Amino acid sequence: EWITPDSPTQRAGAPPAEKFEKVRHPAPILSLSNAFSPDDLRAWLERIAKVDERALGADFVVEPKLDGLTVVLHYRNGVFVQGATRGDGEVGEDVTANLRTVGALPLSIPVIGDRRPRTADHSSLLSAVGGQPPSYLVVRGEVFIRLPDFERLNAELEEAGEKTYVNPRNTAAGALRNLDPAVTAARPLTLLVYQIVAWQASATNPPATQTEAIAALSGLGFPVPESVHCASIEEVIAACERWERRRAELDYEIDGAVVKINDLQLAADLGVVGKDPRGAIAYKFPAQEVTTTLNDIRVNVGRTGVLTPYAVLEPVEIGGVTVKQATLHNFDYIAEKDIRVGDRVRLKRAGDVIPYVIGPVVDARRGDERPYTPPETCPACGQPVEHVEGEVAWYCVNAACPAQLIRNLEHFVSRGAMDIVGLGIKIVEQLVAEGLVRDVADLYTLERDDLLQLEGFAEKKAANLLAAIAASKHQPLSRLLTALGIRGVGEVVAADLAARYPDLDALAAATVEELEAIEGVGPNIAQAIVDWFARPANRRVLEKLRAAGVWPRSEPPRPAGGPLAGKVFVITGTLPGFTRLEAKAFIESHGGKVTGSVSKKTDFLLAGEKAGSKLAKARALGVPILDEEALRQMVAAKS
Ligand code: IVH
Repeated sequence: EWITPDSPTQRAGAPPAEKFEKVRHPAPILSLSNAFSPDDLRAWLERIAKVDERALGADFVVEPKLDGLTVVLHYRNGVFVQGATRGDGEVGEDVTANLRTVGALPLSIPVIGDRRPRTADHSSLLSAVGGQPPSYLVVRGEVFIRLPDFERLNAELEEAGEKTYVNPRNTAAGALRNLDPAVTAARPLTLLVYQIVAWQASATNPPATQTEAIAALSGLGFPVPESVHCASIEEVIAACERWERRRAELDYEIDGAVVKINDLQLAADLGVVGKDPRGAIAYKFPAQEVTTTLNDIRVNVGRTGVLTPYAVLEPVEIGGVTVKQATLHNFDYIAEKDIRVGDRVRLKRAGDVIPYVIGPVVDARRGDERPYTPPETCPACGQPVEHVEGEVAWYCVNAACPAQLIRNLEHFVSRGAMDIVGLGIKIVEQLVAEGLVRDVADLYTLERDDLLQLEGFAEKKAANLLAAIAASKHQPLSRLLTALGIRGVGEVVAADLAARYPDLDALAAATVEELEAIEGVGPNIAQAIVDWFARPANRRVLEKLRAAGVWPRSEPPRPAGGPLAGKVFVITGTLPGFTRLEAKAFIESHGGKVTGSVSKKTDFLLAGEKAGSKLAKARALGVPILDEEALRQMVAAKS
């Protein structure tokens, strides 16, 4: 009976559904008519002024038109009780369990007489609604995925050899309408709320203007869009054009601006044409979509050997940027969309996301387009490619593949790994091209004369680089493990492995079962580690590293006790004052434990900026979330 309705634990745990129930909306969830030019906006105002001449003296607000999915959220006595999709505008689908997993959605809003424990800013929230929050409130908003979260999600999926998503909107739609809330929770959905659909309060009237509605929603704790107040239609036009210019900088997709008559009574009095209210209109931006010719399909080889096809295009401009290449996701995507070399293809670009090919313009075919067959051999090294059961990706498994080698070296020398200062991508490419480096271990046998034959190298630069390489021999085991680039073994898992195994010989002898028993190491990672050590080419690299004196042994186990003793942490996002490794060291030096993935055993999630799926999972499981400051305070308070 101590569970509060807004407890984070209430975000998760709902079982998968068989189907979604239907929900009748309390009022029609209307659509919008479109304007495509400033003149369309002026004509709109003239049109509605004929219906009600008060429109001529009206003021307006302009909001971004979020490219997501409409949701309708019901709050009874301050508690989120139901959430639905738009459906046909009259009846939608009940996606309450899924919406609960969206971290930005308030599970409760303040109500009068509320005796539940509250944060200090609770009363200031209440003042925004005159201290009288509604007993029943229905709001409308948009669920979507921010572009950086979308890119991170795709990067994770690609690394795991899984299918990547085509665009944020479809990903959000799939997540919102998934029958298993656990799947929704794993997707980085977010929300902005822009409309009050129903409002019942004993003492207060609903907001009279859109400006007040946004302020009240914000005051109740809802995330709201930026809205710009405009006194005239010319100001509206300027605001729409400003949104259009800002479009490329935003970290979410918008496909226009929404212009609303500010006076909500006037807007209601103006009535509806079909499903479109007269009192608002969408100013649509030109689609960031063009067509061009697909000249070729080529294949990139990633660090883990994943082959990713990309389009070589007849250069074309989208939104002020010339595009020559675009991603094709994976070979299944090309087959599903029947994309052929020589096709006219539709191309889309949004924000800073890599442009992608939407599909062919089938009607534009002339008959000489060539269907594409995925390569059977790696385009960089010519070795046969392999497929892992259950994954969409094809891999080049040749450890000596030059494309992979370059990516591997880049990773090996990077800051979080062996941290070899001064060894950038340019030099890596030179070393591989000259045949001086055939695997990561060859770095340690490079000599002064080898470097001096490279373009751009003189005595000093060669000496500095050799010194930096030599210094990296003393990096701890955890860093070497990270540097090896075993699938799934990032900094955190590497540190866990280094804490458990004294050196690479011990780790190489570990079984899948043993590895799986380590917290933060799942069956896939355990298998990837065992497979990695089983490969003869990798064994040879290890022997060369040993011979070169790159064979660190683990640091001795840390003392038990300390203010964080017995507590299990997971770290995610970018922290202001720590690198990941420093944060881990800090936690461990105070007796805590750090693992790689969030589970029921996690006590705290330490989250920084740009936290992604781990944050969503922690919220879904009700794991308390700390920022760096809170962690420091926790340690200080107990020390
Ligand atoms: S107001 C009567 N405001 O655009 C009010 N809609 O093309 C109608 N949308 O289905 C909606 N951002 O899903 C409104 N700031 C915003 C919006 C917005 C996105 C969507 C909404 C609607 C569609 C209409």
